Amino acid sequence: VFAFTVLCLVSVSHSTPLLCEKLVQPLESLAPRHLEGRWALVAGSLNHSQSMDALRLRDSITMYFSNSSDPSTVSYTQINRLGNGCQHLRYNISLDGSSFSFDVGNRFDLNGSLHYTSCPDCLVMRWVVKSSKRHSVDLYLLSRRREVDLREMEEFRAQ
Ligand SMILES: *[C@@H]1O[C@H](CO)[C@@H](O)[C@H](O)[C@H]1NC(C)=O
Ligand SMILES: *[C@@H]1O[C@H](CO)[C@@H](O)[C@H](O)[C@H]1NC(C)=O
Ligand SMILES: *[C@@H]1O[C@H](CO)[C@@H](O)[C@H](O)[C@H]1NC(C)=O
Ligand SMILES: *[C@@H]1O[C@H](CO)[C@@H](O)[C@H](O)[C@H]1NC(C)=O
Repeated sequence: VFAFTVLCLVSVSHSTPLLCEKLVQPLESLAPRHLEGRWALVAGSLNHSQSMDALRLRDSITMYFSNSSDPSTVSYTQINRLGNGCQHLRYNISLDGSSFSFDVGNRFDLNGSLHYTSCPDCLVMRWVVKSSKRHSVDLYLLSRRREVDLREMEEFRAQ
């Protein structure tokens, strides 16, 4: 069990405009191989308060991506840990250039993209979630490690 850090959106005034621009642009391409494997969710920032509250309740979240024989599809498993319980969520993801969408039937829309990070073993993922009840933009910091260093966290905070 590790401490799960949750951040709020904060603006960082000392970032240079150029760096900020780089941080908010989606990456141009997305290689399934880059996603492959196990990731710890280190931090998340959501503009939907109920979803943010739900996220805070998790002790940890682990995400697995695995490629399939179809290069435009990736399978996704998320394990939410809450006390002694675990919740497994499985979805197929379709890749479309630099963005991807989760196949969640017609229940809601979940599209994502990856963003720049200078952290060598991290992913920054932006999700746009749309349903009749919720329209949120989520930013997640994933790492192969369970914690990142202060500088890496600062960069994500700026993002
Ligand atoms: C979250 O941000 C998006 C994009 O700015 C906006 O369209 C949406 O309404 C926001 N959601 C909430 C719950 O504030
Ligand atoms: C997934 O990617 C790995 C490493 O890139 C490769 O060795 C493996 O064959 C791929 N699996 C499938 C089902 O394409
Ligand atoms: C993902 O796609 C595969 C192959 O089409 C299918 O067998 C599997 O049931 C799908 N999984 C989910 C969770 O939708
Ligand atoms: C997600 O992507 C699909 C397919 O590209 C598109 O139809 C849908 O409008 C997108 N939804 C959002 C919330 O961007």
